[in-house]
Amino acid sequence: MRIAVPRETAPGERRVALVPESCKKLIQAGYQIAVEAGAGDAAGFADAEYRQLGVDLQTDAAALLGSAELVLKVTAPAGRESQRDEVQWMRPGAIYVGSLMPLRNLDATRALAARHVTAFATDAIPRTTRAQSMDTLSSMANISGYKGVLLAAVELDRYFPMLMTAAGMVRPAKVFVIGAGVAGLQAIATAKRLGANVVATDVRPEVKEQIESVGAKYVGIELKDSAAAAGGYARELSEDDRRRQSQLLAEECAQSDVVITTALIGGVFAPRLIAADTVSKMKPGSIIVDLAADGGGNCELSKPGQTVRSGGVTILAPLNVPSTMAYHASLLFSRNLTAFVLAFTKDGAFQLDFNDDIQQGAVITHDGDVKHARTREALQKRQ
Ligand code: NAI
Repeated sequence: MRIAVPRETAPGERRVALVPESCKKLIQAGYQIAVEAGAGDAAGFADAEYRQLGVDLQTDAAALLGSAELVLKVTAPAGRESQRDEVQWMRPGAIYVGSLMPLRNLDATRALAARHVTAFATDAIPRTTRAQSMDTLSSMANISGYKGVLLAAVELDRYFPMLMTAAGMVRPAKVFVIGAGVAGLQAIATAKRLGANVVATDVRPEVKEQIESVGAKYVGIELKDSAAAAGGYARELSEDDRRRQSQLLAEECAQSDVVITTALIGGVFAPRLIAADTVSKMKPGSIIVDLAADGGGNCELSKPGQTVRSGGVTILAPLNVPSTMAYHASLLFSRNLTAFVLAFTKDGAFQLDFNDDIQQGAVITHDGDVKHARTREALQKRQ
């Protein structure tokens, strides 16, 4: 079976779906691989490294996609809105695997269904032990949590650690992490490694222990209604819980030098947790890094992709943080994709098996239909 890896062309996207290490494994499993020339350049993987392994380097993206049964990509394929209509270039019946984010990319999803492409979204893979090695959401969130803290440290006009100097002692920075999923837990661990005092909150009950296990102090309200939804994700809080949480967040933010926000609902959209009024009561010089900017942002004042200054507070809302660490992001993403493909490979070909729980969870479109219930509902609502 032939795999195609096109260059990523979304603005600011530097990752590549397959790195040479993974190509080697897939070739050993019997696949032929074609990669668009220059696809790995921005992530530090040169064409020569692929060529050496017997990968076919192609300059014509339409021919590349049209020749493959399996297309591996980091992001959603470009569609009609672009000069590069990757969906139309794919063969009907071809299989796409990538971080489609169908709820954020409804047009691309509809186009994939219309083109009769079988699309698997790695972000919809169930959060089970068996699927852990395929989980691109986790690999990418880990990078965001780490890098988000570094961005804050660069912006902050203070040290993170407590320091004893000849000129006297300086106090450690106080970092407040909101949302302690994969990104939040990595943000806590990174801020701790830099020596900060870290406090964190979440709405899922099991998270308190996880926060404490990476060295932060847990703060949180007693929820009247459970916020835990299926698959380990959080649901929106009730009106009453939201009001009480917002007061707690305001108190913690007012005492913090750095606030890192990572909260998402259902793994997709960002709840508004930090009001403009809360920002106005923060200390001058403090920093908010809104790592939920791709989902709309957790802070009312965040402008996704921009840095905003309000009073003395700086609010960073970086988009696509994993792409800023393109080498490791590509390496891990590529390992996740390869684990997915190899789990369903027989005689050098990917086998569809919708009785398998991983394929069942990850399949978004097949045979002209949108199979993923939440995406189907979102598309129907838009009509
Ligand atoms: P996510 O990216 O969907 O959300 C980030 C965090 O924000 C979550 O912890 C969520 O509870 C929290 N949140 C939502 N609303 C909030 C609010 N109002 N205030 C404070 N926090 C709020 O989460 P992520 O990182 O994708 O993790 C989701 C779950 O999946 C976790 O339970 C994680 O342990 C689990 N997981 C399991 C894996 C496996 O078993 N293979 C792999 C990765 C994650």
